[in-house]
Amino acid sequence: MISPGTIDEIFAKVQIEDVVQDYVQLKRRGVNMIGLCPFHHEKTPSFTVSPAKNIYKCFGCGKGGNAVQFLMEHDHLTYPEALRQLAAKYNIEIEESVETDEVREERQLKDSLFLINAFANTHFQGNLWENAEGKRIGLGYFKERGFLETTIRKFELGFAPKQGGLTDKATQEGYNSEYLKALGLTTEKGRDFFWDRVMFPIHNLSGKVIGFAGRTMSSGVKGPKYINSPESEIYNKRKTLYAIHLAKQGIIQKDQCILVEGYTDVISLHQAGIQNVVASSGTSLTTDQIALIKRFTPNVLLLYDGDFAGLKASLRGLNLLLEQNLNVQLVALPEGEDPDSFVRKRGSEKMLAYLAQQAKDFILFSIELMVEESKNDPVKKTQWLRDIVESISKIPDPIKRSVYISQCAQLTGIEEAILVAETNKKIRQDLLNKKSSHRDRDAEKAALDVAARRDEQNIIHQQPESPSSAPDDAQERDIVRLLITFGDRVFDEDSAILVAQYILNNIKDVVKFVDNQTYLKVIEMWQHAIKEQATLTLAHFINHTDENIRRLAVDLTTSPYTYSENWEARWDIMLQTQVMPDDNYIKDSQQSVLRFKLKKIRHLIEENKQRIAELKPDEEPQKELIYLKVHQQLTQLRNELAEKLKLIVLS
Ligand code: GTP
Ligand code: MN
Repeated sequence: MISPGTIDEIFAKVQIEDVVQDYVQLKRRGVNMIGLCPFHHEKTPSFTVSPAKNIYKCFGCGKGGNAVQFLMEHDHLTYPEALRQLAAKYNIEIEESVETDEVREERQLKDSLFLINAFANTHFQGNLWENAEGKRIGLGYFKERGFLETTIRKFELGFAPKQGGLTDKATQEGYNSEYLKALGLTTEKGRDFFWDRVMFPIHNLSGKVIGFAGRTMSSGVKGPKYINSPESEIYNKRKTLYAIHLAKQGIIQKDQCILVEGYTDVISLHQAGIQNVVASSGTSLTTDQIALIKRFTPNVLLLYDGDFAGLKASLRGLNLLLEQNLNVQLVALPEGEDPDSFVRKRGSEKMLAYLAQQAKDFILFSIELMVEESKNDPVKKTQWLRDIVESISKIPDPIKRSVYISQCAQLTGIEEAILVAETNKKIRQDLLNKKSSHRDRDAEKAALDVAARRDEQNIIHQQPESPSSAPDDAQERDIVRLLITFGDRVFDEDSAILVAQYILNNIKDVVKFVDNQTYLKVIEMWQHAIKEQATLTLAHFINHTDENIRRLAVDLTTSPYTYSENWEARWDIMLQTQVMPDDNYIKDSQQSVLRFKLKKIRHLIEENKQRIAELKPDEEPQKELIYLKVHQQLTQLRNELAEKLKLIVLS
């Protein structure tokens, strides 16, 4: 772990223009610098770098952030990877934060396990290339399958002979036998786990061996064709994609990840020059694997070689990909072929042509399948339709969603309005389900994030009314904008309170209604800071470790300041045309707080009205009285707030 001191030092030294200029040619334009955006195609520059704010922002595609963000986006680095790269650029020595005993032990254990796997990997390869039996049987087998020597070396393929030999050699060389067992290389009885098999090492992203698969060379034997290392401290199947370390570069270059099922499929395609290929190794795709793909591209092409029933089953599993906003295409290979056999028979040109020609969007593919399958069967049709609506509902991007809905309407002849309604119903159900299950905080948070993202996109497309208070986003966002940009300014010289204090004091009683998690985090950070008598600067938010916060801070400081909501018809036009000057943050804060409170109080009024409406006549006169009282108080409060706001706006 990089120590906080080092991180501070990096942030203190980094100049955004230095970093960006390694990739983009920049020209001065006033206080800013501009250039062609590296994240989308453009002919006239809209990519802006602000040396003063130490951030970049593209007004074409919307990407923006600090130097760390830039490297993460541009080179697909993780946060610590980007920090390390910056440290190297600025000759900053990285101080690792002091490890606890526990952390150190874990790291040392992992290091030992990696060492043993590396040893085993060398051993298996030695068997293949140097041992007579290995050469004859193992290398013979691979060559028979059409693998070239360079390919066999590239994938570090190996051989485990009938009589084994790994366990003995490893213990002789002093490797810990408990660790050998933990990795599954040695059985509980002390024998070799892999024998009489050709070996496929499995690597992590950085190319270290985390496990093995061994394939039997004889066809038609009882028992499994492949056996795998068990999961260990360093091998988690759900997080692993076979050959990701070799495919990473190709995936970035092609901006596409081809996903196949088998080890040999990956190897043959790479050998044929198609290098953006990984395998999920027989298991169905997990969220972790998707996250790994998503670091490099949003475009996934699935090569499918199963039968029809299997295909239908796997279509359901693909919703996971849609939910993560990946673009999923699918190619079904001809009967009886898998990617390995196909590319060997026809070569890479034909294969690529076939892929280009046959690749179908996953949702359109299922719709066509449905139409074909259920021509004369209304029951089947209903079931299929439900599946498709479910798939579409998983897509977070509302524009994409509406495109699919129109296409689905065209293909099926079902009215578009019905499909929209059904999809929205499904989205709402999902949100409600996720919200109510308190056992799973993560799922809940994810749902809220999705809700928040949808809220932001609300403007563009007809949307399901989400149960969160989406319509308040403008007001909530404005409060957070002030906290982030002006929170540390002095609001009132006499009492020496900060803008943040003023805002927080004033929204205390309604803050519990904020449902956007990122906004809440910002509010909580300021609450904490004030308690500790500290202040938070804009830079603090722009450089925050939480990506959502960084994004928000950048967006809020770079987007023009307008009121988008027509919340109060009377002053609407005036408010929309009024732009707050940058230095008038006091008036700005006062307005923003009032607007926020007004909005929340309007909700309370609505809620209360609803309660009154739901009362059964004659039954609960007591309750009704209370509700009416509440109504009176709330409307009075609302009027006061509105009046105050009007005064400020007009002053
Ligand atoms: P070849 O027959 O060598 O071409 O293998 P393949 O890669 O084409 O395998 P196949 O399409 O039969 O299966 C796809 C993937 O599923 C394999 O690469 C393995 O990861 C996995 N798999 C297949 N058979 C077994 C098995 O018997 N046991 C286990 N654990 N995994 C298997
Ligand atoms: Mn195969």
